[in-house]
Amino acid sequence: MSSPKQLLERNRAWAREMAAHDPECFHKLAAQQAPDYLWIGCSDSRVPANQIVGLQPGEIFVHRNVSNLVIQTDLNCLSVLQYAVDVLQVKHIIVCGHYGCGGVLAALRNDRLGLIDNWLRQIQNIAAKYQTALDGLFDEEQRCDKLCELNVIEQVLNVCHTTVLRDAWARHQAVAIHGWIYRLQDGLIRDLNVSISNPGTADLACRGALLSL
Ligand code: CO
Repeated sequence: MSSPKQLLERNRAWAREMAAHDPECFHKLAAQQAPDYLWIGCSDSRVPANQIVGLQPGEIFVHRNVSNLVIQTDLNCLSVLQYAVDVLQVKHIIVCGHYGCGGVLAALRNDRLGLIDNWLRQIQNIAAKYQTALDGLFDEEQRCDKLCELNVIEQVLNVCHTTVLRDAWARHQAVAIHGWIYRLQDGLIRDLNVSISNPGTADLACRGALLSL
């Protein structure tokens, strides 16, 4: 394990390397940020947004929480969303889950971990909604992976239903929402084919994506 002191040393090396590559990079980044993307992903340390899509500082606005949930009463997530859409005017919002998500598995198992159980209750509600489909699967790993996919689609819908997106679309702002899922085993992202760019197609797109899972 690296010590905090080593992390600071690595930071200095990284900053030197960045500046050697582009002497103006930090000046440009300090002046403004204009990312085209908002990423809503899991807090899991193995799913770092910038790295897995090859984006540099300044190119993606990031919100992460346990199991990439978008809850209508979560002021933190809603504030990120509102700022990204209204102020930064991002063009794309990516909800990216990942297979083998610990939060999803804990929800599936009904584990008692503490305060977080209340947060994960949202996923248990999704599991209840799709219980028949989940019960038909062979084992816990398959059920967990399916629930990870279902969770992404439900969170895409939640983004669509926020006042932030409804207002943006009402004023004809071009912003699309996408649902992706990352596989820890090979580092690859799968597009769940649930891309929504207007309110009229949200439910239909999600139904289509659910059928193709
Ligand atoms: Co996770």
